[in-house]
Amino acid sequence: MNDRMIYVHIPFCDSKCYYCNFCSFVSNDIVKKKYFEKLIKEIEHNSNKTVKISSIYIGGGTPSCVDEKFIGEILQQIKKSFILKSNAEITIELNPCSTNIKKLKYYKEIGINRVSFGIQSLNNKSLKLIGRKHNSKQAKMAIKIAKKCGFDNISVDVLIGIPKQSFLKLKTTIKKLIKLNVKHLSCYMLINEPNTKLTKMINQKKISVPSEDKCVIFYNKLFKYLKSKKIFRYEISNFCKKGYECIHNIGYWTLKEYYGFGVGAHSFISNQRYSNTENIFDYINCDYNCEKENLSDREKIEEFIMLGLRTKYGINILDLKKMGFDITKEKKDDISFLINNKFITQKDDVIKICENKYGVANQIILKLLP
Ligand SMILES: C[S@@+](CC[C@H](N)C(=O)[O-])C[C@H]1O[C@@H](n2cnc3c(N)ncnc32)[C@H](O)[C@@H]1O
Ligand code: SF4
Repeated sequence: MNDRMIYVHIPFCDSKCYYCNFCSFVSNDIVKKKYFEKLIKEIEHNSNKTVKISSIYIGGGTPSCVDEKFIGEILQQIKKSFILKSNAEITIELNPCSTNIKKLKYYKEIGINRVSFGIQSLNNKSLKLIGRKHNSKQAKMAIKIAKKCGFDNISVDVLIGIPKQSFLKLKTTIKKLIKLNVKHLSCYMLINEPNTKLTKMINQKKISVPSEDKCVIFYNKLFKYLKSKKIFRYEISNFCKKGYECIHNIGYWTLKEYYGFGVGAHSFISNQRYSNTENIFDYINCDYNCEKENLSDREKIEEFIMLGLRTKYGINILDLKKMGFDITKEKKDDISFLINNKFITQKDDVIKICENKYGVANQIILKLLP
């Protein structure tokens, strides 16, 4: 059997950021305790001692905002239920506000080998306007403590398109993060999700964000700047120093099988997608009430193209043929057009988006879907 991956969702946060629509809640200790009891049961329920686990991603919400012992218990249960490979990548997401030496030392002790900080920006005005509780100083300190505690594989999340941002300010943030020697950056374009406080403020014209066109310019400049610092893009939003690509992310993009444990989590096993309820009380109180959906051949081909083209690895024509889609035949005219206009390249059976065309990746992908 092939290796699988595990995603564990910790849905708690100390406060809700204005832009965020993730499945996350500000909850009390009783709910947290009950949640972890159920999470352990869910992992136990899926036990399979023939399955090797190559990566674990503990995400959220904010895993650092709960008692670190809960995280230890989760890893313990995973080790009991599956075969955890000795070289498995184990990531935890952290918020600078809830990170401290004690927690980081503990994470290191229990085998976590990659940390991902939600930094978003190192500009205090922007941070305040998007409802982050930390300031630039606290964010930098959290990264320094992680390094002190022995973490080398440090990733940071940065947002493009937040209030008060200019390319210069974005570059200043990135420059400081590079100085701190972070190895990996996820740079996300801000999505103005419906029903968030930020979207409401934008609609009421109380606050403004850079236009979409401006964000694409920021993104293209950022790519060039990071490249000049030897931090390379391996996926549309993900950049790293050589050898620090996130194994777990690559697994998602190559349609590797994974378990998703926790409220709102998704799994992908034997061509089936399973989705847990997004209601935390239903998750705690009901029995494994996940929805099951069979991924059709067409959907699998679409995902393969959409995810693959967003990466530097591109898509392999022969792999697609094996899946039942002869892209060179079915999309002959579109491929010629895109190659002639330097949007994509085709070399040794691999199609890739040209380096300077990631800003219009979605439009390119749409042309190549079945
Ligand atoms: C689960 S959070 C990371 C850890 C922690 N909760 C924190 O925020 O510090 C994952 C990341 O998603 C990104 N994100 C959240 N809402 C977003 C939005 N509306 N648009 C784009 N990215 C978003 C942020 O960069 C955030 O760091
Ligand atoms: S961005 Fe992170 S800390 Fe903020 S509400 Fe979303 S999950 Fe919680």
